[in-house]
Amino acid sequence: MGNSKSIATPEHVAIIMDGNGRWAQARGKPRLFGHHAGARRVREIVEACPDLGVKYLTIFAFSTENWKRTQTEVSGLMKLFKRYLMSETKELVEAGVRVRFIGDRIKLDENLVALMDELELLTCDNDTVHLTIALNYGGRDEVARATKRLSREVAAGRIDPETVDAETLARFLDTYVLPDPDLVIRTSGEARISNFLLWQSAYSEYVFIDTLWPDFSRDEFARVLSSFSTRERRYGAVPG
Ligand code: FPP
Repeated sequence: MGNSKSIATPEHVAIIMDGNGRWAQARGKPRLFGHHAGARRVREIVEACPDLGVKYLTIFAFSTENWKRTQTEVSGLMKLFKRYLMSETKELVEAGVRVRFIGDRIKLDENLVALMDELELLTCDNDTVHLTIALNYGGRDEVARATKRLSREVAAGRIDPETVDAETLARFLDTYVLPDPDLVIRTSGEARISNFLLWQSAYSEYVFIDTLWPDFSRDEFARVLSSFSTRERRYGAVPG
């Protein structure tokens, strides 16, 4: 099979959770109502991971572009994140979920950052599922921040610029401890990457589904995973 590889279950699944706003609007409700429904789905999907054989789950909660939304929506989302982190802590710790955050924390409220730090610390010995939440995350921004950190090392004489390759840069990304995603799912019928895991998804499979995120159930998740297992990944090689 050369470099090709058939995988029964993707080890790392990344999800662009899209469609909360439309889901709420279809019910004549404000957009935040959809985000709250979306948060309940996050819980269901995280809980499903061990049974479905997913070891790493990475979710896009807030992008570097999402600050352009109305002030009401942005502050409502920030409040929701805080509430979610507080209310889920016990459950996540007990379920063996290791939580990490990726993205730039600099623009986030200090109370939110304190909760993020605390949850990372409280779950740092867990290993059942690795949940990574992308908050104020953008793929280009991540590569730019990694380049800045790498440049500092070069300027300090600790890295020889002639030795810099893709592997070197990857060590400075927010995701340096995670494997690359095998599968990226986007809900709500949009077929765009929207600056999510640009570097890491170079060889990922993509699945775009029409379901709006608040309607994305555990059963549909299981179906998407089983459709993935029938695909063959070649990593640019020719099978033979
Ligand atoms: C996209 O839907 C969704 C977001 C920008 C926010 C994602 C947040 C959640 C699912 C809430 C909870 C998350 C955590 C981690 C607790 P959209 O608003 O772009 O929907 P639209 O395209 O229909 O307008």
